Amino acid sequence: MLDEKAKAVRYAKSITHGALIEQVIPGGVDSPFRAFGEVGGQAVFFEHGEGAYLWDLDGNKYIDYLGAWGPAIAGHAPPEVTARAIKALEAGPVFGAPHQTELELARAIIGIVPQNAVEMMRFVSSGTEAVMSAIRLARGYTNRELIVMFEGGYHGHSDATLASTTHSSSAGVPKAMSQAALQARYNDLNSVAKIFDEHPGKIAAVIVEPVCGSMGVVVPQGDFLKDLAALCLKHDVLLIFDEVITGFRLALGGAQQYFGIKADIVCYGKALGGGMPIGAFGGSRAIMSKMLPLGDVYQAGTFSGNPLTMSAALATIEHLKASNPYPYMDELGARLELGLERAIDHAGHPATIARAGSMFSINFAREPVRDLASSKAIDKKAYARFFHYCLDNGIYLPPSAEDAACISAKHTKQDIDHTLEVMVDALKHAFA
Ligand SMILES: Cc1ncc(COP(=O)(O)O)c(C=O)c1O
Repeated sequence: MLDEKAKAVRYAKSITHGALIEQVIPGGVDSPFRAFGEVGGQAVFFEHGEGAYLWDLDGNKYIDYLGAWGPAIAGHAPPEVTARAIKALEAGPVFGAPHQTELELARAIIGIVPQNAVEMMRFVSSGTEAVMSAIRLARGYTNRELIVMFEGGYHGHSDATLASTTHSSSAGVPKAMSQAALQARYNDLNSVAKIFDEHPGKIAAVIVEPVCGSMGVVVPQGDFLKDLAALCLKHDVLLIFDEVITGFRLALGGAQQYFGIKADIVCYGKALGGGMPIGAFGGSRAIMSKMLPLGDVYQAGTFSGNPLTMSAALATIEHLKASNPYPYMDELGARLELGLERAIDHAGHPATIARAGSMFSINFAREPVRDLASSKAIDKKAYARFFHYCLDNGIYLPPSAEDAACISAKHTKQDIDHTLEVMVDALKHAFA
């Protein structure tokens, strides 16, 4: 572990800029978890990224597993995407009117998602917007108000999805909004059934992250998702898959392909945009026809579906389709998982690895995390020590014990092996 003096040298420019930015941006960040609040210390300022690597202002190089919290599936600044994006930028980045790339992208996605689950879709500019609009659509389509979510989940920062038991709670959310979002336990179908029984005919939808990414990675156990879909069908409740992280990451067709389950409405974001800010939601023609101007559910956006973002997304999808990096990323993930598990078992560390394809987390708790209650056992202080050891040794991880780390298609086996070496030492420091 670097001492304070060595850190002051290694992160000199980040420290200087950190002191300045805090004067003009609250906490020095535009999204709170970037601020190292959970792990302590000075957030690192980045200068550029390429492939699997990031370079900070001080010139330190990192193998990156934050992946920008999900988008960097093809690595940072993937040439396959940037070339198209630059062309679109030069042709005019926003028209506020329909254009051809929207059509091409919608058709490409509709062709990819299995079981005709998406017949029509809308593009927006963030995952938050996608989920917010999907929830409004579910309420408008069913003419019901209640939404069921899962404790410990995260669906963006709209009023509709922030509640005290979710990943982020917030002052300023009207009580009526959080009361309209009922909380079930992830991996516990009975907790959903109980809510259905208590509110017959009142529930518009259940929204679920097919793999949770914000209470540690939590993988659905057994047939949880399949049974959830069946229960929703039985009670005539819509099922919304929040695939903002899992979309185009677990498989090209996202969790619907990975788990073979069809949702009524699906939300995308992150990896779809190839680095540009994007969100999208889609579903059957019947449901999507409820959107204005065909129907009466309002959603709009000056930048929704802008040509720059659409071009980057189309290039991303075409690249992922042509290169099919999913088996490779899974192989890298398995290599890292196996190595870490061996080290954990050998040393008897109280930690477990959770992974689905290229998303993973080292959960610093003795028992596997399956829901919010078990995620509370995560030792955040141990994670902070682990995080800083990795940071000081050129491995960048989410600065939060509960968020998913992401492998990209650009990581190499050598990157993984080097990461393993550092992480095995980091584990020793975490539990020292
Ligand atoms: C599952 C999930 N849904 C929605 C969102 C919100 O997406 P955005 O940050 O693009 O608004 C996130 C972001 O982390 C997420 O992980």
